[in-house]
Amino acid sequence: MPFFRKRRTRDNGRVTANDDTDLAARRAAQFEAMGGHEMFDRLTHRFYQGVREDEVLAPMYEDDFAGGEDRLRMFLEQYWGGPFTYSELRGHPRLRMRHAKFRITPDARDRWLQHMRVAVDEAGLAPEIEQALWDYLVRAADAMINTLEPRP
Ligand code: HEM
Repeated sequence: MPFFRKRRTRDNGRVTANDDTDLAARRAAQFEAMGGHEMFDRLTHRFYQGVREDEVLAPMYEDDFAGGEDRLRMFLEQYWGGPFTYSELRGHPRLRMRHAKFRITPDARDRWLQHMRVAVDEAGLAPEIEQALWDYLVRAADAMINTLEPRP
């Protein structure tokens, strides 16, 4: 969980103008601490190298690996305090819905996480940031499972 999300708002939960400024600053600090665009670029690029070679995952991407890599990078950057480019281009993430057309079995989840693990290991993050990112990715990947059947 990004640290900028942990803080409580004041005024019975109403977000004040001051809080908005704080939030922007905390988001920027989070993104910076993670290595910014350059880190997310390396992370998703390394992840996609694994995906391309994966016999279960690769066919799902219908040869648009570069587009998929961009979308995942923009999404992760936005989630972790970076620019809102993902939502500007794609709208609300609705990730469960966007993944509904793929057969995401526990095996597909494991493979996705396995490629992500390699990418995270090579990202050179500070240990507590790496742990936060990894916990998030595991939870998100678990939530994406939408079938237990390997075939239709
Ligand atoms: C659990 C296994 C998963 C599988 C097999 C999987 C597979 C896919 C596939 C095949 C696509 C289409 C590629 C494209 O054209 O964009 C996709 C898109 C995407 N995935 Fe996943 N995914 C998984 C988990 C996740 C997780 C955990 C996240 C987020 C943390 C994520 C974020 C995204 C995003 C942001 C897109 C682009 C959505 C869009 O804007 O259309 N995926 N995924």
